[in-house]
Amino acid sequence: MAKGFTLWFTGLSGSGKSALAERVRDILLERGMKVEVLDGDIVRQNLSKGLGFSKEDRDTNIRRIGFVCNLLTRNEVVAIAAAISPYKAIRDENRELIGRFVEVYCKCDLDTLKARDPKGLYEKALRGEIKNFTGVSDPYEAPENAEVVVDTASEEVDAAVEKIIGKLEEMRYVPAGDGRGYTEEEEEGIKARLRDLGYI
Ligand code: ADX
Repeated sequence: MAKGFTLWFTGLSGSGKSALAERVRDILLERGMKVEVLDGDIVRQNLSKGLGFSKEDRDTNIRRIGFVCNLLTRNEVVAIAAAISPYKAIRDENRELIGRFVEVYCKCDLDTLKARDPKGLYEKALRGEIKNFTGVSDPYEAPENAEVVVDTASEEVDAAVEKIIGKLEEMRYVPAGDGRGYTEEEEEGIKARLRDLGYI
């Protein structure tokens, strides 16, 4: 049976974390895996209800999401987290806790985010109507060693999804596209052929 892992999306508000998380979830479901998405906006309506956006509250929120991701991961479920998770130390804490942890950095420049602004939050933040808004008046510590970096300002959604799935296949966390994966014997056969051909 497939083993669980955590796919952790981090990035500014509006950078595409939730949209990509859902697309990846659907593909993994189609491949017969068990998947749960923990989305910051939704977690904040229940598990983290009442928490605000101080560093302390954000850290609590991210630790809670990490805690649940760990429970799911160890039960062979793929946990997908999509939260700004602005602080590197807390993301790394979750990485340490969970082990099978793949970080996806949704990179997007502020000008693009301001232009998109579907919830009008950047406009409000820039007017000073929302305090401590990540990327405007609150810090965001970009990952330095994320397994995947997608630039959602310039990359198409399909290309970004492909990049993420490709990485998961390469890491052997997700079986190859035919949904079947390879047995050890098949894998040895493929390697032998590639060796014969001088490719490896
Ligand atoms: S996190 O910092 O704790 O990881 P989380 O992803 O759960 O944040 O929630 C972010 C969402 O809350 C944003 O997409 C936005 O809709 C909303 N939000 C409200 N106030 C803020 C703020 N001050 N900074 C960032 N996001 C905010």
